Amino acid sequence: MANIVIVGTQWGDEGKGKIVDLLSEHADIVVRFQGGNNAGHTMVVNGRQFISHLVPSGILQKKICAIGNGVVVDPEVLIEEMTYLEEKGIDIGPELLKISDKAHLIMPYHRAIDIARENKKGDRKIGTTGRGIGPCYEDKAARRGIRFVELLDTELFTEMLAETLDEKNFYLTHYLNGTPLSFDDIRDRYLGYAERLAPHIIHLSTFLSEAIGSRSSILFEGAQGTHLDIDHGTYPFVTSSNTVSANACSGSGIGPKVIDGVIGVVKAYTTRVGQGPFPCELLDEIGDRIQQTGCEFGATTGRKRRCGWLDTVLLTNAARLNSLTGLAITKLDVLGGLDSLCICTGYEYRGKRLSDFPSNLKVLAECTPILETLPGWKSDISGARTLSDLPDEALAYIHRIETLTGIPVQIVSVGPGRDQTIVIEHPFGSK
Ligand code: GDP
Ligand code: IMO
Ligand code: MG
Repeated sequence: MANIVIVGTQWGDEGKGKIVDLLSEHADIVVRFQGGNNAGHTMVVNGRQFISHLVPSGILQKKICAIGNGVVVDPEVLIEEMTYLEEKGIDIGPELLKISDKAHLIMPYHRAIDIARENKKGDRKIGTTGRGIGPCYEDKAARRGIRFVELLDTELFTEMLAETLDEKNFYLTHYLNGTPLSFDDIRDRYLGYAERLAPHIIHLSTFLSEAIGSRSSILFEGAQGTHLDIDHGTYPFVTSSNTVSANACSGSGIGPKVIDGVIGVVKAYTTRVGQGPFPCELLDEIGDRIQQTGCEFGATTGRKRRCGWLDTVLLTNAARLNSLTGLAITKLDVLGGLDSLCICTGYEYRGKRLSDFPSNLKVLAECTPILETLPGWKSDISGARTLSDLPDEALAYIHRIETLTGIPVQIVSVGPGRDQTIVIEHPFGSK
């Protein structure tokens, strides 16, 4: 029995979905604890690809999957995703899919405000996914959000919607030059969603506490990445939730004592979608090559991901912020064929080496990476299943990451498929 948290260490899209799917085999329950359908988690099993935005990536392993109170849920998207999974023959009945009654609802005005605000900002935009994530978390913090528990109470929901929509329509029309949204339309649609989702809605904290009491193993699935964290990321170019491991607790209703390990997923290079500084970004043919070989397009918005060398300044920052106990390196196969590789070991700012990841974004934007060059490898490693199948240069790259971060590499992924993985040390022990 063990309870493990999985988080992204960079700016998202590290391959968390693949690692969660793989490790779910040894878990009883998989819980998403933050974010919403800004996430896109890809799993490939027996050549079939599945992308999930809200349903935890443990669903393909037929595990109980829970959406925690820290998640913001667009019920329309959730129902669409449930239908998509059902059509693919995946069971998503109430026994397997649970939703916290305290999770907040993304409403149509959240989406409308997200998109209209980004348009208004022009060049100063964040590059959000446009899914209403930020505006929904804003309402949660402002204590005017609507949760599943209120949705289930028709009278209360109707009252809350009427009050909130009035204010939102004023803001949408008078400040954002948008069009007002219809009260009747939203109420009718959301009451329909309530009926569809009601069997899945539970008091999740109690459910998890009972499961922990009966020695179940829980896997907590993070979304986004450490540097998109609202407190610790590259603010304001971040998402609106805490993406770090500590939020696995408050985002699902358990205490920190029950966490046994934290795995940081790290792509063998760095990518970022949306705006914001990116010191290791490669705006040359190597960056293009990584983007193409790695098929680096966003799973949610289809946007091209910006690519660069592996940045161990980010990684050591993530190791501290998350108390990482192990690393899962993904997409190592994508780096094959390069004559040499670079790893960023520090940042230089106005002639001086920085000791910490800068909080001031103007400083970060001016940083240049201090790069170390390592030999590349020519062979295709996607068929490797043990460390001994890897060329010496790939092993040296892995060892260098361990040395620079001080965190042991427990998993190496060499392709999108569940089986294309080298498990060095299983996070759930020898179960
Ligand atoms: P997530 O948001 O962290 O779950 O990551 P995404 O699913 O958005 O992006 C990761 C992409 O890389 C997906 O298309 C995966 O199928 C793919 N992927 C994951 N691991 C590997 C790997 O080791 N090698 C290759 N080539 N692709 C991988
Ligand atoms: P997964 O879970 C990569 C980025 C957006 C934007 C910023 C804010 O698949 O790794 P938001 O819509 O959250 O307000 O956008 O955060 N972003 C992600 N980038 N992967 C994600 O999720 C992301 N979720 C949000 O591109 O820059
Ligand atoms: Mg993704």
